[in-house]
Amino acid sequence: MDTFLIQGGRPLAGEVAVSGAKNSALPALAAALLTAEPVVLERIPAVRDIGTMESLLKHIGAGVAVDGGTVTIEAGKLNEPEAPYDLVKTMRASSLVLGPLVGRTGRARVSMPGGCAIGARPINLHVSALEQLGARISQAHGYIQAEAPGGLRGSLVHFDRITVTGTEDVLMAAVLADGETVIENAAREPEVSDLAALLTKMGAKIEGAGTSTITVKGVAKLHGARHAIIPDRIEAGTFLIAGAMTRGDLRIMNCEPAHLHALVARMRQGGAEIVEEGPNALRVRAARRLEAADITTEEYPGFATDLQAQYMAMMTAANGISFITETIFENRFMHALELMRMGATIRIEGRQAIVAGVPALTGAQVIASDLRASASLVLAGLVAQGETVVDRVYHIDRGYERIEEKLRGAGAGIERRGQAAAGKA
Ligand code: EPZ
Repeated sequence: MDTFLIQGGRPLAGEVAVSGAKNSALPALAAALLTAEPVVLERIPAVRDIGTMESLLKHIGAGVAVDGGTVTIEAGKLNEPEAPYDLVKTMRASSLVLGPLVGRTGRARVSMPGGCAIGARPINLHVSALEQLGARISQAHGYIQAEAPGGLRGSLVHFDRITVTGTEDVLMAAVLADGETVIENAAREPEVSDLAALLTKMGAKIEGAGTSTITVKGVAKLHGARHAIIPDRIEAGTFLIAGAMTRGDLRIMNCEPAHLHALVARMRQGGAEIVEEGPNALRVRAARRLEAADITTEEYPGFATDLQAQYMAMMTAANGISFITETIFENRFMHALELMRMGATIRIEGRQAIVAGVPALTGAQVIASDLRASASLVLAGLVAQGETVVDRVYHIDRGYERIEEKLRGAGAGIERRGQAAAGKA
């Protein structure tokens, strides 16, 4: 099991390049199941979750060819349309094959994901949306069985609660349904818009992606396409925070500034200097200690819940008290307990964390619990006095491509220890 060794106190400088968005690549890979023709996806990040999805596609019978960041999927003939427990238990987003499999084959058997560190994370909204398109759904032995022998039919789908992968699942089911589907209270995340862009290239008829109401006119068949995934806004936001926390001068390359307005606004309020340098680059500088500023996580375009842990790390050493309210997940403060071991002063009251900034954190041995919590511990280690050891970094490898190499390239004192590193040595 790999660990990171981090020597704190070095300001980051120079450049880091952002990879393609994991949360856009996952639905895009699943969407390739909707056609028998090859789908070529570019800028796919080499992270663990992508590897899991590729394994799942192969299990279903698709051909998957990986050439660096370009992945070609050929779903000409499919085996059992099934997502088995041993794959789904490692990645909840496996439920993204539910919609495409029902849409393409008229049936699907997907293991229920079970909970994860940040919450129960049910998929009841996915299931009810597919039922509104005419799928018959049963649940037994930990699996969801969906049947639509006569195909799906377009309908009004209303989400009681905004769900990103729920919107993506039903969008992928609707594109081959008979008739028109209107999705109300849809997620507006850029990853939903990116999926719609891919589906449109494949011949789907979609309007309104990126807004709360998406209209789909079903077509009989989809064809192959080539599509480059959008940049990872969460990775970009993580590096913006790293540059500010370490009081450095860092350029974030290959990002999409338009996807980061909520974070940038809050960081500027705290005293960070952030400017756009060219169409796909942001530069962050902070010469002095940041001021505390409150956040409340919300669906896009609000402050992203996936940046909450990283933002909390920044607030632990800021000047003043900040209130961090998490409205999306019920248990997304696991990182607070580990940050407190590094000297942070945090009080958790239900969905709110109250952070009193301290002059300096101290390095410690800490354990990652989930993907974004592990990122926050790395960030804290970059500014803590002395050495920090972050254990279980396989969590961070799920969503960040070679993060220690990117940070080291910007001057951070970070190295990976463990079997994987030994293998590389
Ligand atoms: C997506 O998860 C992202 N994952 C998450 O990123 C992200 O945190 C989340 O959206 C919110 O932005 C991918 O895109 C692969 P939701 P998703 O459905 O779709 C509840 C990361 O770190 N809910 O929008 O699973 C749910 O429990 C990951 O990269 C139901 O109750 O999130 C949550 O409280 C973590 N029933 C809320 O809705 C459902 O059927 C929003 O969840 C579905 C969701």
